[in-house]
Amino acid sequence: MNPQPSIDAVHDVLVVGSGAMGTQIGAVFALAGYPVTTSDLDPAALERSRDEVHRRLDRLAEKGRRSREEVDAALARMAYTTDSLEAASTTDFVLEAAVERLDIKRQLFADLDEAAPEHAILATNSSTIPSSLLMDATGRGDRVCNMHFFNPALVMACVEVVRNPLTSDATVETTLELARRLGKQPVRLNQEVPGFVANRLLGALRDEALRLEADGVAGFEDIDVAARTALGHPMGPFELMDLVGIDVSYLIRLSEHEQSGDPADLPHPSVQKLYEQGRYGRKTGRGWYEYAG
Ligand code: 3HC
Repeated sequence: MNPQPSIDAVHDVLVVGSGAMGTQIGAVFALAGYPVTTSDLDPAALERSRDEVHRRLDRLAEKGRRSREEVDAALARMAYTTDSLEAASTTDFVLEAAVERLDIKRQLFADLDEAAPEHAILATNSSTIPSSLLMDATGRGDRVCNMHFFNPALVMACVEVVRNPLTSDATVETTLELARRLGKQPVRLNQEVPGFVANRLLGALRDEALRLEADGVAGFEDIDVAARTALGHPMGPFELMDLVGIDVSYLIRLSEHEQSGDPADLPHPSVQKLYEQGRYGRKTGRGWYEYAG
């Protein structure tokens, strides 16, 4: 019998990958009291990640959302390393938020499986790669699942917990409870489906918005106004694409098409055009919209 995870055994957390998601997810764990190590192969990316965390958490203190003491304690709980496997050797929970490439994730999961203690859960933040494609790279498929955060992770309450066919109940319950202890509202998925739940909902809205724009029915700004003012969404589908990244939206769509083979899943031509022009959204200063500074 494999050692089963339990929430009481989760003390130290490792976040692999220091991109936009990994950076904020690390901060979420630290604010909830967990010592967290963020790892990345690229020291410059780690440096940027550390600066971003300081900036975000300082703002929380300045705005009075958290006390200065809480923020300082969270910052003191955060460590950074280029050696994810060494960090994995003493961790109780791994959240992988590395690049969305199956070959890279499979190698990473195989290595993490070797390095991490037996009781540790290996979770992936991926929204497109279900953990059933990673479980057999490890010898602990029962302790592997998706734990999917939303962008920006410091703000968004939703976390999807998705089991693969081998995931044990103890792994699911531990991950759900961990999400609650982070102050999030977990959504339990009983099976893997492409896009999980929230992105499926968002995808339907995005596809309809892209169709309306391409047909010339309304401009993208007006479609965003409709989503905000008629549906009460905090931002419209075009603003959201710019926030998430046109590159991310494009690559997610390609991966969905690869999995389904359905031409309807290919990236929309207008998104492809922006992608080819390098207009990735907020991160490049231009996507659907233009951003100052
Ligand atoms: N990082 C951290 N905090 C941020 C932030 C960011 N990038 N952007 C805004 N915030 C914080 C602000 O500091 C502010 O905090 P405060 O309430 O303490 O002052 C709060 O969020 C509200 O910000 P603003 O007043 O500037 O603007 P909004 O009210 O428009 O909120 C938003 C910004 C939270 C991003 C909101 O527009 C929103 O919820 N948008 C929808 C986001 C969404 O749908 N995300 C899902 C994306 S899909 C995904 O992640 C799936 C993945 O698989 C790709």
